[in-house]
Amino acid sequence: MEKTLVLIKPDAMKAHHIGDIIKIYEEKGLEILAAKMLKMDDKLASQHYYEHIGRPYYGELVDFMTSGPIIAMVLAGEDAIANVRKINGKTNPAEAEEGTIRKLYAASSGENAVHASDSPESAAREISLYFSATEIFD
Ligand code: PPS
Repeated sequence: MEKTLVLIKPDAMKAHHIGDIIKIYEEKGLEILAAKMLKMDDKLASQHYYEHIGRPYYGELVDFMTSGPIIAMVLAGEDAIANVRKINGKTNPAEAEEGTIRKLYAASSGENAVHASDSPESAAREISLYFSATEIFD
């Protein structure tokens, strides 16, 4: 069983899509091993998105991600990292496939409803930013 970190972003929280999004993951067979609601601050944003510091969209990304509460979750399943990114759809919702979370609920490449880890290394690093070992029920 592979683990991945998912964030439900402020746009999806404000639009009341928490339940819709979790239902999609559960219906696709993913198991929720951990979940919490929190507000990202500038420090956590810089740790989470350190690879993007200096990119033209970085300021906008941090402003958006710190604009309201988010939900962080650890999801588990077979090929969970690739599977969850497929379920989420492409970063730009205009390019996302039908039925994906971003096609259903995202407005733009910035305000795109969900985040998911993109590699085993990112998953391990990102999970440890949000959860201690005792908060993960595996
Ligand atoms: S990359 O280079 O492939 O890693 O970049 P990408 O996956 O496309 O985007 C990385 C994250 O940056 C967010 N993003 C933006 N935020 C605000 N404004 C703009 N224009 C913008 N473009 C990309 C994007 O939502 C990605 O966030 P995460 O949370 O990783 O999905």
